[in-house]
Amino acid sequence: MSAVTKKHGNRRAEKPGRDSACPSKLDADVESRFEIVAREDFSELTYLLEVAHPMMARAARPGQFVIVIAHEHGERIPLTIADFDRERGTITLVIQAAGKTTREMQRDCQVGSTLFGMVGPLGEPSQLGDAKKVVCVGGGLGVAPIFPQARAFKENGAYVIGVVGFRSKELVFWEDKFRSVCDEFIICSDDGSVGIKGLVTDGIELAAENHSDIDEVIAIGPPIMMKAATETTRPHNIKTMVSLNPIMVDGTGMCGGCRVLVGGETKFACVDGPDFDGHKVDFVDLMNRLKRFNEDEKLALERWSEGTGQASAAKPAPPPPVEQVERAPRAMDGDMGVHYGTLRSAWDNQDT
Ligand SMILES: Cc1cc2nc3c(=O)[nH]c(=O)nc-3n(C[C@H](O)[C@H](O)[C@H](O)COP(=O)(O)OP(=O)(O)OC[C@H]3O[C@@H](n4cnc5c(N)ncnc54)[C@H](O)[C@@H]3O)c2cc1C
Ligand code: FES
Repeated sequence: MSAVTKKHGNRRAEKPGRDSACPSKLDADVESRFEIVAREDFSELTYLLEVAHPMMARAARPGQFVIVIAHEHGERIPLTIADFDRERGTITLVIQAAGKTTREMQRDCQVGSTLFGMVGPLGEPSQLGDAKKVVCVGGGLGVAPIFPQARAFKENGAYVIGVVGFRSKELVFWEDKFRSVCDEFIICSDDGSVGIKGLVTDGIELAAENHSDIDEVIAIGPPIMMKAATETTRPHNIKTMVSLNPIMVDGTGMCGGCRVLVGGETKFACVDGPDFDGHKVDFVDLMNRLKRFNEDEKLALERWSEGTGQASAAKPAPPPPVEQVERAPRAMDGDMGVHYGTLRSAWDNQDT
């Protein structure tokens, strides 16, 4: 990508300073070299960052992710490598502003600034196998991460059907990129303003009606969407892989925070996944675990919004009990101190 467009965002005129989510280039020379070389805002909530990291770009495989720390006191958040360009030496992240950290990054991560830390590529790369016909499904946050998988299947000689879902036409992005690697491309929109009116599950049904020889479906998106995708493919008996997004702390199999239940067995999404056989995943357990820190997340966003004068839709939540707010080790500094302390407290009270 050479052009940098800014339809939204870029709300601050001044250059980000040391306390912002992305330190200045000068600070970065000391602290890191993960420079943001391009940014694109797809909507008021979704933005793309292209980050220079030649080694990461060489090593990255479809399905892998990174853990990003935006600034010195930032929390660690996992983000899928939505694209990589080995010639430019960059990786691409597509981020939805969901809570404190992703909103802070939306405000501060501008071209020329740097990310304080970036670890990866993490997770097992997606298995391409010998599938001859695949359906790559992306909804919401999953639209960007499904792209490298669609491209890899195409390069592997498969017939690729892309199915992506958006609320409306204005939110569509990467249509050209998808069309360049898909033999068929189905856009689904909630309001019917583009493509077929309906959910990605309608797109999967359409593909299944037209093709009786689909080998595999790969679905990435919010858990509820991936669950619905697996229920759609189950009667057709089509292998369906999903990419799970539990809360992660270290991303290397040590903290246990990303536990998921697959086929009745406990797996760690960061090292055993994040791709799993969707027909075996316990999505109810995943969704319940994702909700565990809602109060802390609201509180963190509220505190940040108050401190910066940013508008927040989140309602203030009562502070967590003192024993749950123990500080995390230095390596997990920032708001993850709250997350990590709460995680430990939650584990202490639950069967393993
Ligand atoms: C392997 C993996 C890959 C991911 N890839 C991407 C990506 O490419 N782009 C992207 O925008 N996000 C991605 N996520 C989700 C992203 O990590 C979270 O949205 C982010 O950590 C939220 O941080 P926050 O402080 O902004 O919001 P928080 O205040 O922590 O949370 C705000 C809201 O987001 C939800 N949330 C928190 N953590 C997660 C999570 N792990 N998954 C889903 N929802 C969550 C919370 O339930 C809450 O409703 C990925 C998650 C995983 C595990
Ligand atoms: S994030 Fe997977 S074990 Fe810690």
